[in-house]
Amino acid sequence: MNKEIKKICCIGAGYVGGPTMAVIADKCHEIIINVVDINESRISDWNNEDLSKLPVFEPGLKEIIKRRRGVNLFFSTEVEKNIASADMIFISVNTPIKQSGVGAGKASNLKWIESSARQISKFAEGFTIVVEKSTLPVKTANTIKKILEASNYGENTNNKKFKILSNPEFLSEGNAINDLENPDRILIGGEDEESIKALKEIYLNWIDDRKIITTNLWSSELSKLTANAFLAQRISSINSISALCEKTGADVQEVGLAVGMDSRIGDKFLKVGPGFGGSCFKKDLLNLVYICDYYGLKEVSRYWQKVIDINNWQRGRISGIVVEKLFGTISGKRIGILGFSFKANTNDTRESPAIEICKDLIEEGGELQIYDPKVSLINMENELNKVLIKNTSNEIGSWQYSNSIEDAAKNADALIVLTEWEEFKKIDWMIISKLMRSPSWVFDTRLITDIEEASKFGINIWKIGRGF
Ligand code: NAD
Ligand code: UGA
Repeated sequence: MNKEIKKICCIGAGYVGGPTMAVIADKCHEIIINVVDINESRISDWNNEDLSKLPVFEPGLKEIIKRRRGVNLFFSTEVEKNIASADMIFISVNTPIKQSGVGAGKASNLKWIESSARQISKFAEGFTIVVEKSTLPVKTANTIKKILEASNYGENTNNKKFKILSNPEFLSEGNAINDLENPDRILIGGEDEESIKALKEIYLNWIDDRKIITTNLWSSELSKLTANAFLAQRISSINSISALCEKTGADVQEVGLAVGMDSRIGDKFLKVGPGFGGSCFKKDLLNLVYICDYYGLKEVSRYWQKVIDINNWQRGRISGIVVEKLFGTISGKRIGILGFSFKANTNDTRESPAIEICKDLIEEGGELQIYDPKVSLINMENELNKVLIKNTSNEIGSWQYSNSIEDAAKNADALIVLTEWEEFKKIDWMIISKLMRSPSWVFDTRLITDIEEASKFGINIWKIGRGF
């Protein structure tokens, strides 16, 4: 038997739900897609006539919304109604790390998953396929199943029948539409042929059959955590080698090139930096560590914990080097920070390495002048207020928002490049050298500036992973 999917409901109009449903709507005109969320302002932003106000900025997204919104793609807060009429429901809600209680700081907080499952259990009608889109700990489908099965007891069961699929998302920020339109693979985990086929049929509208992998539920759930863990591991690996390069006179870019040209290793995700950031790598690694501990696999959990440890160490290492180079003290010294987002082409600051590095430098007494082309003052304030110790001691430094590279460099003893923004590649060092206080320093943690040019104007230079 074939289940025909005419209506989809996606719970969660966030970073994943919005763009993913937009692309499905764009590729499958005959399917009606309702994206629902409890956050009213987010929904009204998705419905904004002014497409520059969409809640998610992604190249290519605006154009799709313009084509499909109000045609076969709808955003609303009408959760119950849209659950009831759906043939297939995607759960795409947030799954952050728990802040308190059992597993605090490591386990995923599944309260939004559970509340979505309860809503589905209550309002769905007839046969509904429920798809896990959020990144989840392995075995979560069991919990969802139990909640859904509970709907078969009591009144108004309406002959409800559910099947669960796992279909994790691998998009990366800033490249979401391209990732969704041309994915490396689509992963569908499930227990029954009929629902797997129904979801596969949707993707077959634009994705080659050979790229669609089907597995059991648990392999699919675990593959998503594992993929993020492997990506993060590569970054920690090259970052750990950057420290050794600095000690030995090797150059991490040259080492990365030589290593990455081995086709068994590959050249992706070998860019050195101040440590990985973003909303998912740390969260998913912590979750993996927690799950391994839960199953008594101490060695495995320690192995993955090290990937996080190296990442933390890399950030701390950079603040330490800055202090050391500036004669062992930065108290009262002005330091320009170039870049605050976790990577270029996004204003997202979640888990950005800049946060901890700025915190360390402020606590060392530095006076920071922070510039980022896309991050707002409010966003910086929120992030730094979360981490700065409320200290009345005069020793602690301060920070201020800068409007430009020049503003951040004014009277500064040092500039630290923390995000690989395009405009940092084109810095005019002659102008900048005149604004800074001598002896001045530039620290490039992303290897993107023309730092050798800076040295021609008397600026001392430090490059990550480069032994001098
Ligand atoms: P997000 O916080 O941007 O969006 C989640 C949305 O779900 C929020 O708007 C929230 O209001 C809504 N929500 C929560 N509970 C709800 C409920 N019961 N009913 C209706 N709406 C509800 O999160 P995101 O970045 O889209 O991430 C979602 C999931 O996808 C996470 O598990 C994440 O790990 C995973 N993921 C994220 C990315 C990424 O780049 N952000 C990439 C791949 C996977
Ligand atoms: C990452 C994964 O790449 C996606 O496949 C995944 O779907 C997503 O997480 C998720 O599950 O949320 P994202 O966090 O958007 O995507 O960004 P990445 O491009 O992976 O970068 C993450 C961090 O690693 C950034 O801080 C970046 O600067 C850093 N990075 C990346 C490096 O330091 N070196 C590299 O070579 C690559």
